[in-house]
Amino acid sequence: MYILGIETSCDETSAAVLNKNNLVLSNIVLSQDDIHAPFGGVVPELASRQHITAIEYVVGESLEKAGVKLPQIDAFAVTQGPGLIGSLLIGVSFAKGLAYYFQKPLIPVDHLESHIHAAFLENKVIPFPAVALLVSGGHTALYLLKEKLSFELLVKTRDDAAGEALDKIAKYLGLGYPGGPIIDRMAANGNPQKFLFSLPRMTDKTLGYSFSGLKTAALKTIKDKTITIEHPHLDDFLASFQKTVVKALLAPLEKIIQIHAPKSLILCGGVARNSVLRQNFQRLADKNNLKGFIPSPQFCTDNAAMVAGLALEKYTNGGEYPLSLDLNAYPSNPRKAGKIKKSGS
Ligand code: KG4
Ligand code: ZN
Repeated sequence: MYILGIETSCDETSAAVLNKNNLVLSNIVLSQDDIHAPFGGVVPELASRQHITAIEYVVGESLEKAGVKLPQIDAFAVTQGPGLIGSLLIGVSFAKGLAYYFQKPLIPVDHLESHIHAAFLENKVIPFPAVALLVSGGHTALYLLKEKLSFELLVKTRDDAAGEALDKIAKYLGLGYPGGPIIDRMAANGNPQKFLFSLPRMTDKTLGYSFSGLKTAALKTIKDKTITIEHPHLDDFLASFQKTVVKALLAPLEKIIQIHAPKSLILCGGVARNSVLRQNFQRLADKNNLKGFIPSPQFCTDNAAMVAGLALEKYTNGGEYPLSLDLNAYPSNPRKAGKIKKSGS
């Protein structure tokens, strides 16, 4: 059995082929970074136009690399949302066309769930319950997984996502786009103790994430200390800011571990590529005698292997996906904390 996954939720056009054993035969990702870099962020209209140009090529490459022909594909999978609606629609329409032509099942996948499921691409067994920290450009949240395909939202950001805060600070300093990996690289040469930032605190004392205050504090420091791209302590500033973002990500996780007593921890999403976050997350897992699972970097940022992987799991667990041309994309996540239903139901 072969499954073809398609991911176009934001600014990466990606297609992947997996076999029935969850083996990634190909995972082609065409990034649009060069297109959006001059604007310091994703321009939605440009993103969807680029997906239209790229999708046929990317799907073709993924089949070629996997050594599989289109008629051999047993099921198609696609990211349905959340994401940029124009971008999502390209992937959904393309996948629908393929499924309809070949009269094969079309399995819709939630983008956030697929980020979490990425951990299962390289690990067949992850002991449950597991707590997942999802950190991307658009989302920062903690989920409880009591079993496979069950994603219960516990905590999410009240304002900015962590990746968004990193990207915005980099943009303000004129460092380039996307800012997260650039900060990661430059911070490696800096002293993270040089600048002090306080950790975000919820005024109502509940558990939660918030990065807009930290971003504002960083912008204030940039102005007060006239930090520019030429400043001798730029690397120190970036290292200090990044260290605080990482601490702010791990503090609520530590509390959730006490409450839910998981057996394992998962780190996922684009920001999970961050070197300091990966290290400190693993340290936190070790300190709590838990198994920590972090996907390889190529499975952290947006990719279609995670889409095909989650779809395969849904399909082989008896999910029924009769071909429906009514399948639509959804731009934002309609679900609220504590009200998540089992995926596929
Ligand atoms: O998951 P993703 O590819 O797209 C969304 O669903 O948002 O995540 C993109 C985010 C961007 O904010 C980018 O700056 C961040 O992941 N990112 C990183 C690193 N690599 C990517 N942030 C920090 N350190 C990195 N090495
Ligand atoms: Zn993503």
